[in-house]
Amino acid sequence: MKKQLGIVGMGVMGRSLARNWAKSGHSLSLYNRRVSGSEEGVAQALTQQFVELRQAAAYEELSDFVASLEQPRKIVLMVTAGPAVDELIAELRPLLQSGDLIIDAGNAHYLDTERRMSMLNTHEVNMLGLGVSGGEQGALEGASLMAGGTPSAYALAEPFLSGIAAKTPAGRLALKHIGPGGSGHFVKMVHNAIEYAEMQAIAEAFEFMHSLMGLDYQTIAEVFEAWNDSSQQSYLLEISSRILRTKDDQGYVIERIADRAAYNQTGAATLVEGALKGEPLSMVASALFARFISNKKAQRQELAVYAEPTSAIVSISVDELKQAYAFTRIINHYQHFEMIASFSERLGWKVNLSDLCSVWSSGCIIRSTLLQQLMPKVDGQLSALFDKATREELFAQKPSVKKVVSAAIQSDVPLSTMQTALNYYQQITQEQSSAALVQAQRDYFGAHGVYFKQSAETLTFYPWPK
Ligand code: 6PG
Repeated sequence: MKKQLGIVGMGVMGRSLARNWAKSGHSLSLYNRRVSGSEEGVAQALTQQFVELRQAAAYEELSDFVASLEQPRKIVLMVTAGPAVDELIAELRPLLQSGDLIIDAGNAHYLDTERRMSMLNTHEVNMLGLGVSGGEQGALEGASLMAGGTPSAYALAEPFLSGIAAKTPAGRLALKHIGPGGSGHFVKMVHNAIEYAEMQAIAEAFEFMHSLMGLDYQTIAEVFEAWNDSSQQSYLLEISSRILRTKDDQGYVIERIADRAAYNQTGAATLVEGALKGEPLSMVASALFARFISNKKAQRQELAVYAEPTSAIVSISVDELKQAYAFTRIINHYQHFEMIASFSERLGWKVNLSDLCSVWSSGCIIRSTLLQQLMPKVDGQLSALFDKATREELFAQKPSVKKVVSAAIQSDVPLSTMQTALNYYQQITQEQSSAALVQAQRDYFGAHGVYFKQSAETLTFYPWPK
C-alpha cells in the first residue's frame, strides 16, 4: 500500500514533524540520506525508536522512497536551508511526475524558494514554501505554519498541514496560506527577526536587573513570571524565567554558559532585504549586532578596562523597566509589520496581517499576548504605530524608557534594543529632521539635487559656492 506523505531529512525537526503526522493518522515514508560512518539507517532506527512511527516505511534510496508514495506525491523537505535543498531537489526532480508536490519546510530564503518554484514549474511539479515555527516542541505537538505558493499547491498540502498545526487561543488552526510565491518563507524570515529582538530585549532586561539593580537570578525569574502574568505574556519570557531558575549540583546553569550567541541566516536576511528597500529595521539590526559583538570575546576582554564599573545600584523600579520592555516590543513588532506590509504591497501578495497575528498567536516562538492584541489593530491597513491607543501607550511609556536607557548609558551597560527603540521613536515622531543638511551635502558633492520646501516635487540642482 502506497504512503500518503513522504518526509526527507530526519534531523530533530524532520523526525518531530514525522511523529506528529503519524499521530494525526497519516501514513508516511521517511527518507534520510546514507553517509557511511555518520548517518546510517537513521530513518529505520526511528521507526523502531518511536511507537507512532512503527507503521512508517524507511528509506535510504531516494528512488525507492519516491516510488513508495501515492500520486500525486507530497514530499516534505526538512533539511538545512541553502545548497542542500538545491541538491536534493536536483536529485528528486527526475523521479517526480507532473502534479507532484514538494513542500520545503526549512528556513529557506524566500528568493531561493521563488527560484526553485519557477524551475519546478517548468516540469509541472508544484512547490510550497512552508514557514514552520515552534522548534522541536512545536513540530511535535503543534506548530505555527505559514504556507506560500499557488492555491492548487496549497490545496494538495492543506489536509496534511492541518494535522500538525497548533490551535490558537481563539480555537483556529495556526496555519495559513499566506500568499503566492515565497510569501510563506518571507513571513517566517521576518518572524525570526522579531524573535531576535524579542530575545535580546529580555536579555537586556535581565542584565539591567542583575547588573544595575543588584537582583539575583531567582528574583529576576520571579519578575519575569510576574510580567508573564500580565499583558507582557510571551513564550520567550516564560522560558527565560525557567532558564534563570534552572540549577544543578554546580549551581545556576546560566552562570556557566559562555556569553556568545550564535545565529543562522534569517535575521541577517531580513535586515538586508529590508535595507535594500528602504525599511528602517533598526530593531533586528541592534539584536543581530549584539549577537555579532558577543562573538568578539577576545576584543571585549582586551578592551573591558575602558568600561565604567557597573556596581552602582540605580533607583529605577521594576515597573519602569517593564514599561521600557513593553515599549521596545511594540516598536519591534511595528517595524516588522511595516516591512511585511510594504513587501506584500509591492509584490502583490495581499498578506493579511491580522491572519498573520492569528497564525503567530500559537505554536511559534514569538507567540504572545501582544500579537493577540495587535490582531484587530492590523485588520485592513497598517496605521502609523498601529492605532491611537498604542500611540498613547508609547507616549506614556517614553519617560520610563528614557530613565532606563539613561541609567544604562551612565554605567556603560549597552541596552541595544531598548536604546534603538527609543531612537526610532524619536526619529519617527520628529516632524523636522536634520536630513536637509544630508541632502544638501549630496547635492554639493554629487549634484544629486534637493527639494525646496515650497516646491517639494521639483528636484533642483543648487549652484553651491565651491
Ligand atoms: C522557530 C525558530 C527556528 C530556529 C531559528 C532560530 O521559529 O522555530 O525561529 O526557525 O530556531 O533558526 O534562528 P537563529 O538560529 O538564527 O537564532
